[in-house]
Amino acid sequence: MKAIAEVTLLIAFILLISFSELCYGDLQVGFYNGECGFIDVELIVGQVVAAQVFRDPTIVAALLRLQFHDCFVRGCDASILLDGIFTEKAAPANLNVRGFDVVDQAKAAVESACPGVVSCADIIAMAARDAVFLAGGGKYNVQTGRRDGMVSLASEVIDLPGPSISVSQAIETFAMKGLDPTDMVLLLGAHTVGVAHCSFFQNRLFNFQNTGKPDPTMDPLLASILRFRCQENGTKDNSVSLDQSEQSRNIVDNSYYKQLMIGRGILEIDQELALDPQTRDTVMSLANTGGFNFAAQFGEAMVKLAAVEVLTETQGEVRRSCRAIN
Ligand code: HEM
Repeated sequence: MKAIAEVTLLIAFILLISFSELCYGDLQVGFYNGECGFIDVELIVGQVVAAQVFRDPTIVAALLRLQFHDCFVRGCDASILLDGIFTEKAAPANLNVRGFDVVDQAKAAVESACPGVVSCADIIAMAARDAVFLAGGGKYNVQTGRRDGMVSLASEVIDLPGPSISVSQAIETFAMKGLDPTDMVLLLGAHTVGVAHCSFFQNRLFNFQNTGKPDPTMDPLLASILRFRCQENGTKDNSVSLDQSEQSRNIVDNSYYKQLMIGRGILEIDQELALDPQTRDTVMSLANTGGFNFAAQFGEAMVKLAAVEVLTETQGEVRRSCRAIN
């Protein structure tokens, strides 16, 4: 009898430990298991994302950025997806955000298999996870159980940091979302894929801080190449890869940090991460350790990002179309 009681206690303890590992607030890994019979909604999202990334590999960057821009404004509630002239989507900081059509397609596929169950906010988180994996960044377990918000205001998009923000200000901004400086450095590692338009870093190339010279922290060779691509009086806002390693610009790996270590960061904030005493050790260690470390840590940071100010249980709703409230 005593042995049975001990075994039961042990099982309860193990369950408690594994449950606490899986849960983050009210979110949990596998929230939709059994919600639609045997249908695996995560697999459906994964198939849509894979088809889209295969068609256009730059979708990976789009989905990563979408997650960030959603979560930093009113939390990860899919408020960025709502259409309207005064919604978040219409704010200047979101005008280049892409990937909305991929979320629409994933939502349509999930709705036809399992109507009214899976939130758009969860689809954003799953799609970002799948994109990271498809781009070589390793697989992490995504938590689900978010619900969709019913408010989206362009005026609230001021929460998103700009490219010339200082490291101290960026640390404060991330702290307000419950993310520490290490999370921040890891999450900015998303700049291992995707592009930045010249208008976001042109100030570094010609007359940095009214010195009449380029930003001295930028590798002079890179600065001269960028000056050609981003001409001072150019009419077109060109774009360049955020990760300047030619072989790895579409791969989710630690090469972004390696580039920062040699002065090849594109945005001012990217480069400052490698110089500021508050973040440089983290950058150095991420640059020097193998890709495996980055993959695991980046996944954990993405899970933390995706848990910012979420709506759960009776809050919000599960939208039928991600572009409009029900
Ligand atoms: C201090 C924080 C951050 C700042 C100031 C910042 C700023 C920027 C800027 C200015 C661009 C270029 C946009 C354009 O040219 O259209 C960009 C692109 C991008 N950002 Fe960030 N970012 C930050 C953090 C993050 C985080 C946390 C993530 C994701 C976890 C992220 C993911 C991306 C991606 C993937 C792109 C490329 C998008 C594309 O190619 O479509 N960023 N970011």
